[in-house]
Amino acid sequence: MSGIVGYIGWQNAIPILIDTLKRLEYRGYDSTGIAVIKDSSLGIRKRVGNIDVLKESLYNEPLNGMNGIGHTRWATHGKPTEENAHPHIAGKIAIVHNGIIENYLSLKESLLKEGRKFLSDTDTEVIAHLIDKNFTGNLENAVQKTLKEISGTYAIVAISPADPEKIVIARNENPIVIGLGRGEFFIASDASAILSYVKDIIFLDDGEIAVIKKEGVQVYDKNNRQVEKNIRRLGLNPILMEKGGYKHFILKEIFEQPRAIWDTVRGRVSGGDIIFEDFKLTDLDIKNIKKVFITGCGTSWHAGLIGKFMIEGISRIPVEVDISSELRYRNPIINSDTLIIAISESGETVDTIAAMRNGKKNGAKTVSICNTIESSLSRESGSTINIHAGPEISVASTKTFTSSLSALYILSVYLAKLKGVINDNETAGLINDIVAVMGKIEDVMGLEEEIEGLSKMFYEKKGFLYLGRGINYPVALEGAMKMKELSYIYAEGYPGGEMKHGPIALIDEHTPVIILAPKNSLYEKSLIDIEEVKARNGVVIVFATEGDTEVMKRARHVLYVPHASEYLFPIIMSIPLQFLAYYVALRRGLNVDRPRNLAKSVTVE
Ligand code: AGP
Repeated sequence: MSGIVGYIGWQNAIPILIDTLKRLEYRGYDSTGIAVIKDSSLGIRKRVGNIDVLKESLYNEPLNGMNGIGHTRWATHGKPTEENAHPHIAGKIAIVHNGIIENYLSLKESLLKEGRKFLSDTDTEVIAHLIDKNFTGNLENAVQKTLKEISGTYAIVAISPADPEKIVIARNENPIVIGLGRGEFFIASDASAILSYVKDIIFLDDGEIAVIKKEGVQVYDKNNRQVEKNIRRLGLNPILMEKGGYKHFILKEIFEQPRAIWDTVRGRVSGGDIIFEDFKLTDLDIKNIKKVFITGCGTSWHAGLIGKFMIEGISRIPVEVDISSELRYRNPIINSDTLIIAISESGETVDTIAAMRNGKKNGAKTVSICNTIESSLSRESGSTINIHAGPEISVASTKTFTSSLSALYILSVYLAKLKGVINDNETAGLINDIVAVMGKIEDVMGLEEEIEGLSKMFYEKKGFLYLGRGINYPVALEGAMKMKELSYIYAEGYPGGEMKHGPIALIDEHTPVIILAPKNSLYEKSLIDIEEVKARNGVVIVFATEGDTEVMKRARHVLYVPHASEYLFPIIMSIPLQFLAYYVALRRGLNVDRPRNLAKSVTVE
């Protein structure tokens, strides 16, 4: 997903634009660019590649100005080239944009007929031409007129040397925030990019336009009525954004999991009770729930699959889990007795937002589990559970996955209690289980060295299989996802009992097979899986429960993790699989914080 920044104030905009763009690099990029206004003229620089390429160009040929915009592009329309990089210029207008304009081709045709020339094949350049065409000296008026002509999703930031003392922003389904400084204002796609400069933030809502001058900010709705916006003071500490002494953000975030999970649970479980702040679901709503849908994408979908076991097992409510890009387009049976739980670390995944919206439209109650306050999903869902995992900079989700599982677990207990399925003692017991797990997670961190050693043997393999049964099948999926997205090695997660129906053909002496075999209700079945793989000369790596000597007799590579309740074992088990993917990728010399082709949040379909 692309990243947008802007600055207007009393400082030279260039170093601020470069610094804030750098903090958005994790969102994915293939090209970058900036535009600044100085003495009513426009300076622009665009480069293919990362921010450092742009920075070097500006070092060699400096630009300056106190009103500027910047962009890191993750291509949706048009290849990563300088022409397609943002900002896009048309006449007296420079803009950056995040989102997709659905009617851009028809608009482009009529603009071409009017004799306008295009340099790129992006939808964004069409917006620049429309604003330029509508411009009669007032930038916000031109933007307002343009928004009536386009359809689609956008966060647009526009400047013009012909109206040089302002920046105009428009938002529809793509996040954009404004940081309030003293006589200066900072703009970014998400607050994390500007928290080194400001704490007071305005979150623009869909359909709103903001006009930012050094004197202040005015926000208007789509009917051009002025809107009073809340100013949020964010506690995010920019220091948390840094690596804190770790080699990579992802390693820092793996080690942050004990703290992150505690922050998810703390303040919500006390004295055998569970409290969710800012929760609009009434006790009656919960008593009436007949069906739960859990939806998300990627790792968040894996969390949902595990959540199904928790909610059905603890609260006995039927649960259906669906990938958001599937759920949003099919016609599920949803009504006022349905609860939709939408899981999204960023809270900006377009498919997850759409799936939640569709459910809400059909009368469902909605709860989002997010890590980003004031994200689109958390603001639009009926209730939201913020997992408080702190900023996750690495593209690959780690701490937010296990924190989402923790949130799902306490939500399951909360639902079960309110539906009268469990009594106070059982509630207290289930809460004690998750409190106990937190102590054990520190122990799991001790596996790092052993797993690093294991990675030496497998980092050149051509493929991995991950097998898990029951609640650990989605853990196998997640372990395989981490391996794929970090090391670019093909990896597949499979239910252990499904091996003989096909994947067993993949097994040979070159195939590492990771088998999750905790001492749980399916343990004996997992032992069968180990034997089946061994019989075909597969290389078996088993993750077992501490003290299990039986497995030692059956497999050469056994790693032991602490015991945990069936519902909470996925939290314990996911962490060694994160280490494995990290160290394999590291050995392969890859960029573990920003893997190729991936973006932290996918806000385009
Ligand atoms: C997982 O490591 C990836 N970051 C990706 O699968 C991610 O989980 C997915 O894109 C959903 O993102 P979200 O949780 O922000 O909605």
